[in-house]
Amino acid sequence: MTSDADTQHPAPQPMPGPAAAAVKLPRRPRVFSGAQPTGALHLGNYLGAITNYVAMQETHDCVYCVVDLHAITLRQTKAELKRSTLDTANMFLAAGVDPQRSIVIVQSHVAQHSELAWILNTVAYMGELSRMTQFKDKTRGGEAESIGVGIFDYPVLMAADILLYQTDAVPVGEDQKQHVELTRDLAERFNNAFGKTFVVPQPIIRTTGARIMGLDDPAKKMSKSAESAYNYIALTDSPDEIRRKIRRAVTDSGTDVRTDPDKPALTNLLTIYGLLAGEPVEAVEARYEGKGYAEFKTDLAEVVVEALVPFQRRMAELGADKGFTLDVLRDGAERAQAIAERTMAKVRERMGFVSRP
Ligand code: TYM
Repeated sequence: MTSDADTQHPAPQPMPGPAAAAVKLPRRPRVFSGAQPTGALHLGNYLGAITNYVAMQETHDCVYCVVDLHAITLRQTKAELKRSTLDTANMFLAAGVDPQRSIVIVQSHVAQHSELAWILNTVAYMGELSRMTQFKDKTRGGEAESIGVGIFDYPVLMAADILLYQTDAVPVGEDQKQHVELTRDLAERFNNAFGKTFVVPQPIIRTTGARIMGLDDPAKKMSKSAESAYNYIALTDSPDEIRRKIRRAVTDSGTDVRTDPDKPALTNLLTIYGLLAGEPVEAVEARYEGKGYAEFKTDLAEVVVEALVPFQRRMAELGADKGFTLDVLRDGAERAQAIAERTMAKVRERMGFVSRP
């Protein structure tokens, strides 16, 4: 996974000592991913992406980003944006992102994201952006006259996020796969036109849990923008809210607790159970053979509550120590900016911008 373009990654620090100065360890591949600060993260975000953020820290140098510039493509109130930005950073940390090992940033703190997005706008095509499923979903039924340019351009900013850091791997849920594929196309197009500049990244998508469905409608993905709060379980929901939401979750006809293409609701609930309990779905199915939906749902609620206990405890601690998160973000912005600026210097030079005298 090495290439000309990514020689700029900082190598892991060699062991201290006089002899070590000459030792050059191979760099670890880089990960970049992000989530929007629009309300609390939910179980879909957690199982589809955040658990991979945490796991990939073992093998990669990671940058995790709260994408506030993406969030404003839909109108946010000032207070909401501020609160959600810090909360989302805390949720990354509470889920196990370790700021000693990984870089945690707020997107707008590193101005190069916007700069590269503009440049990539000159490489992207209207046609490919109008084919993005998320753009079509978000604007369905709307008049072109009043659809924000930011919503249309959203995937270009996402490509800038990823390419700035010479990213090798992008852990995301299934719904972001198309955006990562567009990022690959833009990187290749830019590299062909201006010379090898960007690493072409790979999406990392889980085989199970890549698309957690809504509890109120298993035909739609679990989403923070759902009309009903019964669609999702927020990572910050109280145990009683979790129990209530799972009790109300829709089920399929029949009584068997098993996965089946004809049982999309049970398949989704069993997937959640298996991932959170760390058990294969078949083992869960076997345990509930001959038992009904009610018993399964009662137990599932306890599995979810239990899984979220350490997360919620850590959220409370982080909430009580605001200075800690701000320090993490300050340090993250500094480290990220150094990497981003190296990429931007290369981009400007390749395109023929006169450097600032
Ligand atoms: P966002 O904020 O909608 O979601 C954050 C992550 O959660 C995943 N996800 C899901 N996974 C499984 N099941 C679900 N129901 C579910 N819902 C959401 C998403 O796929 C995502 O990985 N555009 C991105 C944010 C972004 C980004 C980036 C991601 C901006 N720049 C660069 C990666 C790299 C978004 O809106 O994610």
